Amino acid sequence: MIHTYDTQIHYSRDMNGETVTCFRLDTKVSTYFFAASDAKFLLHGYYGSRAGQDDLSFLLHLDVYPHTVKSNLREKGVIMGAYGFEYPCHGIGDYREACLMIEDKAGMTTCDFRYVSHEVMKGKPKLSQKDFDVIPATFEGENSCETLKVTLQDSHTDLTLELYYSVFEELDVITRSARLVNGSGNPVTIRRIFSTCVDYDESDFEMITLNGSWGRERVIERYPLRHGKQLVDSICGESSAQSNPFAALVRPGTDEEQGEAYGFNLVYSGNFTIEAQVAQQHKTRLVAGIHDYDFAWVLEPDYDFWAPECVITYSASGLGTMSRNFHDLYRGNLIRSKYVREERPILINNWEATFFDFDTEKLLSIARESAKLGIEMLVMDDGWFGRRENDDSSLGDWKVNEEKLLGGLKYLVDEVNKLGMKFGIWFEPEMVSLDSELFRAHPDWAIQVPGRELTLRRNQFVLDFSRKDVRDYVYGMMTAVLRSANIEYVKWDMNRSLTEVGSALLPARQQREVWHRYVLGVYDLMNRLTTDFPDILLENCSSGGARFDPGMLYFSPQIWTSDNTDAVERLKIQMGTSLCYPPSAMGAHVSVSPSQAVGRATPFATRGDVAMAGTFGYELDVTEMSEEDLAAVPKQIETYKKYRHLVLNGDYYRLSYHMCDAKWNAWEFVAKDRSEALVTVVQVMSRANSPAVMIKPRGLDPEAMYLVEEVGSAFSGETLMNCGLRVDLWGDFVSKRYHLVIV
Ligand code: DGJ
Repeated sequence: MIHTYDTQIHYSRDMNGETVTCFRLDTKVSTYFFAASDAKFLLHGYYGSRAGQDDLSFLLHLDVYPHTVKSNLREKGVIMGAYGFEYPCHGIGDYREACLMIEDKAGMTTCDFRYVSHEVMKGKPKLSQKDFDVIPATFEGENSCETLKVTLQDSHTDLTLELYYSVFEELDVITRSARLVNGSGNPVTIRRIFSTCVDYDESDFEMITLNGSWGRERVIERYPLRHGKQLVDSICGESSAQSNPFAALVRPGTDEEQGEAYGFNLVYSGNFTIEAQVAQQHKTRLVAGIHDYDFAWVLEPDYDFWAPECVITYSASGLGTMSRNFHDLYRGNLIRSKYVREERPILINNWEATFFDFDTEKLLSIARESAKLGIEMLVMDDGWFGRRENDDSSLGDWKVNEEKLLGGLKYLVDEVNKLGMKFGIWFEPEMVSLDSELFRAHPDWAIQVPGRELTLRRNQFVLDFSRKDVRDYVYGMMTAVLRSANIEYVKWDMNRSLTEVGSALLPARQQREVWHRYVLGVYDLMNRLTTDFPDILLENCSSGGARFDPGMLYFSPQIWTSDNTDAVERLKIQMGTSLCYPPSAMGAHVSVSPSQAVGRATPFATRGDVAMAGTFGYELDVTEMSEEDLAAVPKQIETYKKYRHLVLNGDYYRLSYHMCDAKWNAWEFVAKDRSEALVTVVQVMSRANSPAVMIKPRGLDPEAMYLVEEVGSAFSGETLMNCGLRVDLWGDFVSKRYHLVIV
């Protein structure tokens, strides 16, 4: 609910006062409050647990400070460092992180945007700017929202700034974004434009971030704030495996069940920064947005620029609620694929089974065996095009290698379809190999600094997706393949980050735009693909999970979580990912043991149970499996089919996390109507003389009786949640599942 009102504040030190225009955003459990002061600064007042229906203008502290701009202009500089701001501008005395820095026609970088007007609207506007139609963002979908637009003006440059606050009341979510419009008649250069700023009056917070590397994506890190800046960021052109555009500020002691948690997640897939800064007076500022490292954007007259959306959620009941808020928002209001709520096909991907060494017969042998087992789709991974026998060549030459795929692609797909299976295909659209027809014909199509040596990674370069002609050409090749056979799934991979960032088409003064133009170009192509082929299920991927972010989720309901398919490593990766992304979006496959990533041996059943916490599939050679494992597959598939509606649409709870010194890792899916739940427990590190542990399910109906199918007895939800399920496992890496159904 959005409520705006004007009120009069009386200073305590004299009889004067000022009129402020207040903005109050209420969700189920939170209140966000800010106001435009008499001097038209947009001051932040409060964000936290829901306030009563009082006038909250006292939270601006205008009445107690000795200085306000209205009452004491001679101390404006002091004031700027003391107050909270909604969107701080660079250069006017607030030495904390600013959201905006603009270089004007005189080369000056100071800006000062003041409140002009506001408007409340139902739903929320689309993010779209000249030349780029689609910028991913949440939309009014399953959950409704309303939006407050606040317009500000910098009188010196005549630029207009629009701040958008969309309130998803039921989900305790507020999304924020900013749009800069140049109506001035002169070009300006944006040096920094962040998406959000939240100021807190205190600093007793811990910051949670998701960090890692290839094969170890999104591992949870948590550390107390201290004076100075702490941040999570990426400057490699993608959201990256090393960090994720997510951060939470939590109170010390906050755990899964209790305590305050503020979650921030940027709907963006390129360079980003999320910074928490503890400044003087022990106040905390959190800012988030496109990284300003090597960034500049020339905003021509009559052009606009949208800073990507930042999703913010507040939970007064721990990290579990914070995560479920994100999950519900993303499933209901971000992922626009028609498959978001649909049961996805159980797939088998040939990558870890064959790598590049396959042909039609090999793929068909995998498909025949898979069909018998109940697997629903074959995905042909890297190696089907050009002369691609290893990762040295052919990216960009998206023509079927008919020496490898004898009979052609259509023959293969038809044969797979005849087995009752769907067919999916792999692309890496953003890339070009050094050894490729495309690069030989168009060397200038790679992102580059002309005259400098181009840095290779995996023997490949990044195509200049800031260019429409390059995107069009790649799209032409892709669609020719997609139209040539009954292809129902695409895996969109991206296997290197950007270097020598420059574009042959842009003038010198616009070269710093390339990082962001590249990301917008990727979005443009994904938009075209998903619009022109709405029935194709798109799965994103980037060397595993290096681009697992809300920007990608907008286009694809599932993302390959990591190249590390070891079940034990996946526990960490999937739990970290679940902090803000729904399990239904996590591609998770059963692969061989010992794991190709870490050499660890794990039971087949455990690999299955861990993969069932996401979008389930297989990634091994079914023609070479042991009889025992092979025999287990149909049952595993039947089990996933029984529970996949819970993974797709249920509430997710992290019950126990072995990184936090528990020997168990346990999680639970609960149906929205609480009629059933699935609890899975994996013992990671068994200990001698360590009695069975009681795992306490969450989210059940306390009054209802639940049959625990595996135990054969029924207990009340109250007993199960308070006393727990007794779990006794023998050995390392073994797992158990418990299905709880209301009787
Ligand atoms: C990286 C992906 O994460 C893998 O699943 C696989 O598709 C390879 N690329 C293919 O090159």
